[in-house]
Formats: sequence, structure tokens, C-alpha cells
Amino acid sequence: MKTRITEMLGIEHPIIQGGMHYVGFAELAAAVSNAGGLGIITGLTQPTPELLADEIRKCRAMTDRPFGVNLTFLPALMAPDYPGYVRVILEGGIKIVETAGNNPQKWLPALKDAGVKVIHKCTSVRHALKAQAIGCDAASVDGFECGGHPGEDDIPNFILLPRAADELTIPFVASGGMADGRSLVAALALGADGMNMGTRFIATQEAPVHDNVKRAIVAASELDTRLVMRPLRNTERVLNNAAVERLLDKERSLGAKLSFADIIGEVAGVYPKIMQDGEMDAGAWSCGMVAGLIDDIPTVKQLIDRIMAQAHAIIHDRLAALSAG
Ligand SMILES: Cc1cc2nc3c(=O)[nH]c(=O)nc-3n(C[C@H](O)[C@H](O)[C@H](O)COP(=O)(O)O)c2cc1C
Repeated sequence: MKTRITEMLGIEHPIIQGGMHYVGFAELAAAVSNAGGLGIITGLTQPTPELLADEIRKCRAMTDRPFGVNLTFLPALMAPDYPGYVRVILEGGIKIVETAGNNPQKWLPALKDAGVKVIHKCTSVRHALKAQAIGCDAASVDGFECGGHPGEDDIPNFILLPRAADELTIPFVASGGMADGRSLVAALALGADGMNMGTRFIATQEAPVHDNVKRAIVAASELDTRLVMRPLRNTERVLNNAAVERLLDKERSLGAKLSFADIIGEVAGVYPKIMQDGEMDAGAWSCGMVAGLIDDIPTVKQLIDRIMAQAHAIIHDRLAALSAG
């Protein structure tokens, strides 16, 4: 399947694995790229630029296909060493960067000069238009369904994607709620050039996370996510658990007085405990509503092959028959 995204990124299938904190290590990125999609290493999961350089080298040893690095610009009090991360991305020969969280304009000249394609992750049409205006090559449009940070507009993909298609001239992928061949065909029908998946890729054999995390996603239904940190305008969609219940109680009782300090125990530094140690109630961790569509833990290649086979069958059998009728 050829789309503007497969052509731009030099990949076989229009499927991207979005950056995921403590999930997007070389093992997963390489598995996705080897299966014909685009794997992405999560830059900030590596505590220093030097460790990111090592992770890039490790991934390169595991695949000769293109892979990318995610750079998330966080509302952090102490900014990470972004110049250092950008330097090792460029020195590591990375040609695709997924940016997220904030306007990446400051970093575009260095990335573009080195021939890097920049995909900016956006949760609104206005942010996607801004990304296009400042010179990003593509957008990843994240609907309200998505795991992680859906923004504050709450527009689901059935509206957001056609709106993006009406406004954007750069290619974009649909992100949030994508799980299978039906998702891919729907995304293409709504005007996207491919799809980005987060949660679905966690429940795969190669995802380097504790089995408890994969099992929790398989066990979860579409009703099991919650939105946290809304009062701080830093909304995150997470899987419900004891820590999330506690956090939401604090949000309700403190109301407008809530500050980040009140919930630090539920959100700060929890990812290693969950993803590596499998302590499922250690804190709030991102998970999409799409958990309701996930009921197995295939290899990445089985997953991607299945998605492409299902997409082709829908297009050639179901839709072609409907259209011919
Ligand atoms: C556990 C987890 C961690 C994530 N961490 C990041 C991150 O660090 N940076 C980022 O840009 N997006 C992050 N995301 C968002 C994903 O890249 C992707 O946009 C999102 O998962 C798409 O929605 P889906 O889960 O419904 O597929 C994360 C998502 C999950 C599930």
C-alpha cells in the first residue's frame, strides 16, 4: 500500500509506532521497522543524550530499515537537555523525528538542515496548521480517544480527521483508537495517509515491558480509561487503577486549588515501576480507549501482517462489492 506517508518515510506499510515513555526502546522500534512499519525510540525515556545515542546504535544493529526518535517537549520545571538530545539524534543519523507536546519551531532549522523529516503530533486542527506553517513535513493527528495527552478540545477522530484533511496540505496519520485493518481503512477514508498506534503496540511480544502491563491492556475494556490532570490543563488518558481513583478523589476534593504537588505521588516517576516492575497500581499510566479492541499479544510482525491483510480484504472484498452493487 503506497501513501504519501510510506513514500515520504521510505516504509512498506502506512503504520507508525508512536513514541511511548518506557515502552519505546530499541527492541520495539526495531520490531516495528523490521515488520515494514516505522518504529520510534522515545528520546526522553533515556536519562541522558549519551544513553539515547547508545539506544540509537542498538536499534541500528537490530534493523536496517528506517526508524525514528520521539522528542516530547514537556511542561517540566527543569527542562531536559534538549540541545543534547537533538545533537545525538543528528549524530546518530536519524532521518525521522516525531515531535510532541509543544511547538517544535526552535529545533526545526537544525533538523531540517540535516534532512530530517519532522512529524509533529497534534491534538487539534489549529496546531496541525501551525506545524504545517512552520515547516513540519507531516502531522500525527491525535483524537480524543488516544492514550496519553489528548489535549483539551475533546474532538474524536471521526470529526478531527476529516477536519484535518480539509485544512492540511502536508500528509498526516490518524492517531488514537487505531487497532486493526478496520482502523487503517477508516483512517484512509477520512483523509489520513496512514495510522499511528500506541496502546496496541504495547500488547505485543516484543514490547519490552512487564507482562502485567500487556495483560492489563488485554483485560481492559473501552470503559476502563480515565482522564486525569484536567484541572491542570495537562489532561492525560490513563488506565484506571487504585492510584488513579486516589488522584481523581483529590481532583474532586481540591477543585480549583489542585496543584501538581498534590498529585506528585500518583504521576511522578511511576513509569519504571509499572512498565519494568509490573506494579500495576503504582501510578497513572497512559492507555487508550482502544484497549477495548485488544484481546491478544501477537508478535509485531503478526500484528502488522494481520492489519494489512484485513485492510486489503475490506477494500477489495467488502467495499468493492458494496460499491459495485
Ligand atoms: C504508555 C504510553 C506512553 C506514551 N508516551 C508518550 C510520550 O512519551 N511522548 C509522546 O509524544 N506520546 C506518548 N504517548 C502517545 C502515543 O505516542 C500515541 O500518540 C497514542 O498512544 C495514540 O493513541 P492510542 O494509544 O489509542 O493508539 C504514549 C502513549 C502510551 C499508551
